[in-house]
Amino acid sequence: MNWQGWVFMLIVWCFVGAIFFYSFYRIIFDERVGLQNEKEAEDREWKIAVKHGGGDAPGLNAVIRGIVLAAHQKGWEVYGIKYGYTGLIDTKQIIRLTPESVWDITNIGGTILGSAIRGNPFNYIERRPDGSIVETDISDIVVSNFKTLGFDALVAIGGDGSLTIANKFFKKGIPVIGIPKTIDNDISSTDVTFGFDTAVNTATEAIDKIHTTAKSHDRVMVVEVMGRYVGWIALYSGISGSADVILIPEIPFDIERVCKKIKQLALIGKDYAIVVVAEGAKPLGGDLTFIEKSPGEIRLGGVGKKVADEIELRTGKETRVIVLGHLQRGGAPTTFDRLLCLRFGTAAVRFIEEGLFGTMVSLRATEICPVPIEEAIGQMKAVPKDCDIILTAKSLGISFGD
Ligand code: F6P
Repeated sequence: MNWQGWVFMLIVWCFVGAIFFYSFYRIIFDERVGLQNEKEAEDREWKIAVKHGGGDAPGLNAVIRGIVLAAHQKGWEVYGIKYGYTGLIDTKQIIRLTPESVWDITNIGGTILGSAIRGNPFNYIERRPDGSIVETDISDIVVSNFKTLGFDALVAIGGDGSLTIANKFFKKGIPVIGIPKTIDNDISSTDVTFGFDTAVNTATEAIDKIHTTAKSHDRVMVVEVMGRYVGWIALYSGISGSADVILIPEIPFDIERVCKKIKQLALIGKDYAIVVVAEGAKPLGGDLTFIEKSPGEIRLGGVGKKVADEIELRTGKETRVIVLGHLQRGGAPTTFDRLLCLRFGTAAVRFIEEGLFGTMVSLRATEICPVPIEEAIGQMKAVPKDCDIILTAKSLGISFGD
């Protein structure tokens, strides 16, 4: 080999050597940095804010307790934002949550943080002195207060509306973990929301009691239950409470068929009947029944009375209506809801540690797992018309008025 050849070989070997040493250095360096980051994440003292929005649901206090105790185990601080996002606008509404403040609240209904249904910072409604209403976007104030107060993460507990707002804040840079709350059970990407089981139990218990009085008087009793645009509460409580007719939003009803069922029962000697109506049920080709249209939201109610009036008119049977209303949101959570809430709350803290921001804790079969909030709020979870529970009801002879 001539001298040019030796020089060329030397350059090649220097090049290969440089690549080798660089790769070796990166491996060692990255590992060191990785270990350091992991250690920092472990050692870090997080400051968490917890808030919920929308109506209350049995189990809210248990979720809060789960978050506070799990965070305390890690040496983190938790703050409760009172009255939804209102508390991040008027920051005097923020309270420190310590283990002492949540010790005995798993079984207590309601919420220690107070609820504010209307308070969307992206569409904030203010009433002017002249009575006019103005809507403004004050979300930047919330983001700025969140940062100024030094919070590291926000646990947002809510139904689809609240989680939609939480997702918008996530997109604006707030590290958010969602927890699905609603007695309606209408959030997709989770098998169940907390509060639903308790609401169903309350409704079932009420229907059981209605049976005895219906039977004593040979009356038709119409029971209107909550659930907004889905029929989960009506379906579960109606089947479990041995209703004869269940009307849900997913299956528009024909009142003639409902009356036919009641008359058929009379023919076989059952002179009373129980009709469970979801507040969002509507007749074939008809519309929802609502009490008032508040800004941005319809308040459902009244379909039970309409159904009862029609039944009395068409069958001649004495008919009464009872609206269970907010009874379904009150009281102590069931064992199922308590456990679910404690699992949701503690999982939210683990998700924060794992950096799973923008996700919601979800129950899938028996496991708690993260799902993107975006996915969870994308679609309302309605009752599938061909699901096993509908088939069960039909096999029991329950009419859906279809
Ligand atoms: O979403 C829960 C829920 O209880 C619905 O079932 C019901 O339609 C609604 O809230 C009632 O809201 P409010 O408490 O504002 O009357």
